[in-house]
Amino acid sequence: MNKMNVAILGCGTVGGGVATIIREMNKELAERSDSEIVLKTIVEINPEVASERFKLPLDLFYGGGKKLSVVEASEAIDEIISSEEIDLVIETIGGTSDFIHNICLNVVTSGKHLVTANKALLAERGTDIFETAEKKGVKIGFEAAVCGAIPIVKTIKENFTGDKILSISGIMNGTSNYILSRMQNEGLGFKNALQLAQESGYAEADPALDINGGDAGHKIILLIKLAYGIDVSMNDLSITGIENIKKEDIEFANEIDAKIKLICYAKKINGDIFATVKPMMVKNSNFLSGVNGATNAVRVNTKYSGKHILVGKGAGSSETAMSIVSDIVFIARYGKKMRNTAARQTVNFVADASKFVFPYLITFHTADLPGTTGFITTAIGSRNINIDTVSHNRHNGEKATFSVATMPCQLEQIETAIGKIKTERPGILLSEPKVMPILY
Ligand code: HSE
Repeated sequence: MNKMNVAILGCGTVGGGVATIIREMNKELAERSDSEIVLKTIVEINPEVASERFKLPLDLFYGGGKKLSVVEASEAIDEIISSEEIDLVIETIGGTSDFIHNICLNVVTSGKHLVTANKALLAERGTDIFETAEKKGVKIGFEAAVCGAIPIVKTIKENFTGDKILSISGIMNGTSNYILSRMQNEGLGFKNALQLAQESGYAEADPALDINGGDAGHKIILLIKLAYGIDVSMNDLSITGIENIKKEDIEFANEIDAKIKLICYAKKINGDIFATVKPMMVKNSNFLSGVNGATNAVRVNTKYSGKHILVGKGAGSSETAMSIVSDIVFIARYGKKMRNTAARQTVNFVADASKFVFPYLITFHTADLPGTTGFITTAIGSRNINIDTVSHNRHNGEKATFSVATMPCQLEQIETAIGKIKTERPGILLSEPKVMPILY
């Protein structure tokens, strides 16, 4: 039987899960991949802790289980990369540092396959790693990098190969969805809901990338690469997080039969890519509005086969590890025949957010004066924007708050209308209006 010798770099939540599954499913994996998957070694600075946590024998770790200094671990990694014996390296250290980038680049340069859950690295600094892998004829498995256990990478890359992807929309960050769900269902404020997410172990100690849309941005960048074969950078995307979502936004969502969700969105229209990560008002008729808690969901709309929705766990040890093991099996079985990403498509450009056509919900905080609502709605109409509904005004004699739901229009029409309001009636707006797309 063929053999696939693998090494794991880093034995934290994901790396430990991978080692466990490889050991527990060794027979099935051999049958499914036509190769014996041999876990040769795990490089981990603190093997005793990892061994205890995942019930792994110490002799599985590089150095036989002794603690490694950073320098020793780095030398061990170099040795693995230059070893003729290792076929595939699993990187589960994480981060986008030069150190990690060099490791991944050196793995593929040395002619070894790479499997990783590191979305940030592949999305922000992955171009040369993918290019080198192509030149060397080795494969990069990154199923685990996008929505943990959900098999969205292979679905887009392999299963829809006889179709055209029209659009992708999804909830791809569990932490922010958990926070928004608790705000929506229990009326909690953002800070309380974030604290609960941290206490429940969903949010990282530093939850910045989860709540500012960065983590979701990395995932949609990878899906765009798979669906359209192009490299989009974080700067090409218009990204807004959920930090500024307030109780009143949730109330306005309820009024239009919607839930606020952090949505990753990519659509190809006439050769242009429209891509964004934003809190959106998702109508209750859209499946995504009912996806609650830390669950992820991706909706793919295709030309020939219609709409598909995949729902599942976007994080977790065994969940994410499963996707890594599935990549190992695919690489062992199909090797050079696999594609790393989609064939490159012709794309005119990545559209500026101001060109995005959606129905929008605009929330205004204004001075509480007669004629204000009329003036604002007239300014919106004057930019050729058709208004769907105007909410009732909440007012207290000093401040009035209301929202306007529009029919589909370009964001720049709304921006021009807001500019006109500011110029013609300075001081009427007490804060910058909040604009959120409405997703049907
Ligand atoms: N922290 C992410 C989430 C999982 O909350 O969905 C890893 O990207």
